[in-house]
Amino acid sequence: MDNLPNIPSPLPPLAAASKPRRRRWQLYLLVGFFALIMLGSLSFVVASALEEHDTFCISCHTAPEITYYNRAYYALDHPTEAIPDLSTVHYHAAQAANAEPFKCIDCHRGDSSLPHRITTVALGAYDALIYLAGRDDPTIEKQRTKTGWLANASCATCHSEALLKLDGINNHFHTYLPQAQEALLRGGSLTIGAGLQQALAESGNPPPTSLEIIEVQLFCSDCHQAHKAQPLNADKFFMDETLRNTACVACHLVAKVGPQDVRELSGQ
Ligand code: HEC
Ligand code: HEC
Ligand code: HEC
Ligand code: HEC
Ligand code: HEC
Repeated sequence: MDNLPNIPSPLPPLAAASKPRRRRWQLYLLVGFFALIMLGSLSFVVASALEEHDTFCISCHTAPEITYYNRAYYALDHPTEAIPDLSTVHYHAAQAANAEPFKCIDCHRGDSSLPHRITTVALGAYDALIYLAGRDDPTIEKQRTKTGWLANASCATCHSEALLKLDGINNHFHTYLPQAQEALLRGGSLTIGAGLQQALAESGNPPPTSLEIIEVQLFCSDCHQAHKAQPLNADKFFMDETLRNTACVACHLVAKVGPQDVRELSGQ
């Protein structure tokens, strides 16, 4: 009886104890893993929902970019006054058409594909960090921002008609763009404008059935500045003449045809 406590612990119970411990370990890992996924998806869902509200954007984008918000909502309350910028035109057009109100995110979500969705939310998270660190850039009406491509991908999803209207020189600045080809591949259809229709009728040539593309990287906002105030430019589709001409020439230089210098375009 005395020597009983000296008996070394039997092996089997030890082995039995270690097994559940390891299983618990795996269970914790698994729970942790799914918790992370859930949290990730939850913040994705929450971020996606918040994004739909312009007030969310301006909770961080106070001075100076709150100006973009103010212009839009001022215009909605004063529909007969001159429209200051292209962004505001969109708010105005939606109101005039009795459509759903336009929102910042409508232009800032890209083409809504999954990669663009993820980029938008990831960018939001990154920007939140910059915001918390107080490192934001205080300039207004910035051009060619590092993420401008994302907003520019939005334009083409709504404006494929403008990009796919073949009309000779009258619309060549759109139809030669790579974005026109992309719009066609997304399922858009080519139309023939009045000018080209007449030229075809006179020449007897058949209408074109495909696009010729110049491989130049131009953004819509290189010509149509989204946030640059130019109220008297409403009839010119919000194009700053100098910036626009620079963009026109950028394509001509790649194509090696058409005016090769901005000076040849001024006054047009
Ligand atoms: C949590 C704060 C926060 C919210 C909310 C927020 N942003 Fe930002 N955003 C920032 C910060 C900070 C930057 C970086 C600014 C800088 O670099 O100067 C930024 C940058 C941007 C940029 C420019 C990126 C670039 O390439 O320079 C755009 C466009 C933008 N935000 C749009 C939006 C829109 C649209 C919304 C609403 C859907 C929004 N933001 C909501 C904080 C925020
Ligand atoms: C018509 C589409 C459009 C609408 C509507 C729009 N944006 Fe933009 N926004 C753009 C484009 C395009 C750029 C990129 C410009 C560039 O990089 O040249 C941009 C750039 C920005 C930037 C970064 C550059 C800068 O000037 O600071 C911020 C911030 C921004 N937008 C916020 C907003 C907010 C806030 C709203 C809503 C009140 C809004 N945007 C509505 C198209 C739009
Ligand atoms: C969600 C859809 C949508 C997005 C995104 C969008 N637009 Fe528009 N846009 C419209 C609608 C609707 C109108 C008003 C009807 C029309 O003229 O086609 C309009 C009007 C315009 C006009 C004509 C303005 C005028 O004075 O008549 C231009 C130019 C334009 N958009 C350029 C752009 C550019 C550049 C972008 C991206 C930075 C963009 N749009 C993004 C829907 C959109
Ligand atoms: C090289 C300059 C340039 C670029 C880049 C450009 N546009 Fe334009 N855009 C113009 C000009 C010039 C007009 C005016 C056409 C006119 O006077 O009828 C115009 C007019 C428009 C209009 C209004 C008239 C219409 O045809 O419906 C829309 C919408 C438009 N552009 C959308 C876009 C979109 C979307 C992109 C980007 C994929 C883009 N533009 C890129 C030069 C450009
Ligand atoms: C995406 C490319 C591209 C853009 C952007 C572009 N062009 Fe052109 N342009 C061409 C090509 C290619 C030609 C020569 C073939 C043709 O005439 O179709 C040309 C020719 C021309 C010509 C000479 C026409 C002739 O009959 O000799 C003029 C003028 C011109 N472009 C003006 C402009 C203006 C103004 C803009 C800006 C609003 C512009 N282009 C933007 C590609 C472009």
